[in-house]
Amino acid sequence: MAKREHWGSKFGFVLAASGSAIGLGNIWKFPYIAGENGGAAFIFVYLICIAIVGLPVVVAEILMGRTTQRNPVGAFRKLSGSKFWTAIGGLGVLAGFIILSFYTVIAGWSLGYMIEALQGNFSALGTAEQASNHFNSLVGDPTWMIGFYTIFFVFTMAVVFLGVKNGIEKASKIMMPVLFVILIILMIKGISLKGSGEGLAFLWKPDWAKITRQSVLIALGHAFFTLSLGMGALMTYGSYLNKKTNIPKAAMQIVFLDTLIAIMAGVAIFTAVFATGQDPAGGPGLIFNTLTVVFGGMTGGYVFGLLFFVLLTVAALTSSISLLEVVVAYFVDERRWSRHRAVLVLGSLVFLFGIPSALSFNLLANVTYNGMTFFDIADFIASNVLLPLGGLLIAIFVAWIWGFDKALIELKHGAENVFKDRSWLVGIFKVFLKYIAPVMIFIVFLHSVGLLESAIEQVKNYWIIIILVIVVLVIIISRNRKKK
Ligand code: PFF
Repeated sequence: MAKREHWGSKFGFVLAASGSAIGLGNIWKFPYIAGENGGAAFIFVYLICIAIVGLPVVVAEILMGRTTQRNPVGAFRKLSGSKFWTAIGGLGVLAGFIILSFYTVIAGWSLGYMIEALQGNFSALGTAEQASNHFNSLVGDPTWMIGFYTIFFVFTMAVVFLGVKNGIEKASKIMMPVLFVILIILMIKGISLKGSGEGLAFLWKPDWAKITRQSVLIALGHAFFTLSLGMGALMTYGSYLNKKTNIPKAAMQIVFLDTLIAIMAGVAIFTAVFATGQDPAGGPGLIFNTLTVVFGGMTGGYVFGLLFFVLLTVAALTSSISLLEVVVAYFVDERRWSRHRAVLVLGSLVFLFGIPSALSFNLLANVTYNGMTFFDIADFIASNVLLPLGGLLIAIFVAWIWGFDKALIELKHGAENVFKDRSWLVGIFKVFLKYIAPVMIFIVFLHSVGLLESAIEQVKNYWIIIILVIVVLVIIISRNRKKK
């Protein structure tokens, strides 16, 4: 087998992994869910979720990858030798396949809006209604949709085709600084607008009454999506690391950058939204409808609008390449395909699978199941079922099956000075990974698949589910122990 590729530098890895984490989730989704759930109070809860659940699972994923030097399927197989756990790795690859297929559809909108901005089309959009009509007419046009979807997809395939070091790492080294600089420019512009103070107050002054069980669950669910957790993207990136990397430090940097960019995007967007008197709770259309009106009306709006959609497209690209890389790594490691063949064949398959999602806004808009289009179903299965389930199982696997103590020995490679004389740190990590993260993710999972409310109502059922899960876990753990 060909020698496994590795990152050129630790910095390259941190940039690529941050690139995976920073994406549509930060710039498109985070501001609108924060807007819908009350701003500052939501952000506070989100930060807690990132720290106590996100960070430990980021460490766990990267560690599994580095230890095994394999894709998610190979990683689970190597560490457990069990078919059940190997299949869990397979679920991750499947999730990557599905998420890539609809993620690139939204990324295609972003690319299309970049061209809209370039043509100066936002200046004609004076009201939110005009903007939303414009948006509907664009996504309602199959040629526009498929066209930009295809172009974006080709970009994604081209980067992964070039390999880990010459493709993913190089692209991240160019695109991440660009993204950062653009965001700083947009933030300064937003803050300098008259009336931006209200936008800042919206982000910093918490209204605690707005925190509900629902918003806590949304925050936790989003923590997963935004950190690219639960499907082995960070595991795959971790598999191109060597033992010298300090994983806890790298994980902190990735989580910090991801959070920083989400907050910066929030500042850039809400200062402008409030300064121009738009609705902060614009929902998923906040960026494509509300913001285009904002750009249409501001001085220099042409340049800022263009910069914004370049930013969004670049962020989406550094994430979509990580999704494709998970699928490609599986075929390269487990099926012995060449990288080029895997990219061309799998890339084309995901592309074809995504076409019904791209057409869900026009030709196939009326083809629904339970009121959900093909796009909605793909999004639901991947984001609400596969990711939380994957995250739950990864935390359980590392803490209980592989075993916390064995994992810790691996984790200490490259991180000797982090843990030296700090046994409390090990203790905290252990409690979070073994107990807090699995329990919290399990609750999110129940919520995501719509079981939480009924479970709470019917306390009886609730206990049955918990007991069942505990029984299954005990069986799995004891079988595993026997094997050893
Ligand atoms: N973290 C990305 C975002 O916030 O847009 C989305 C994502 C990328 C999720 C890669 C999962 C993944 F494996």
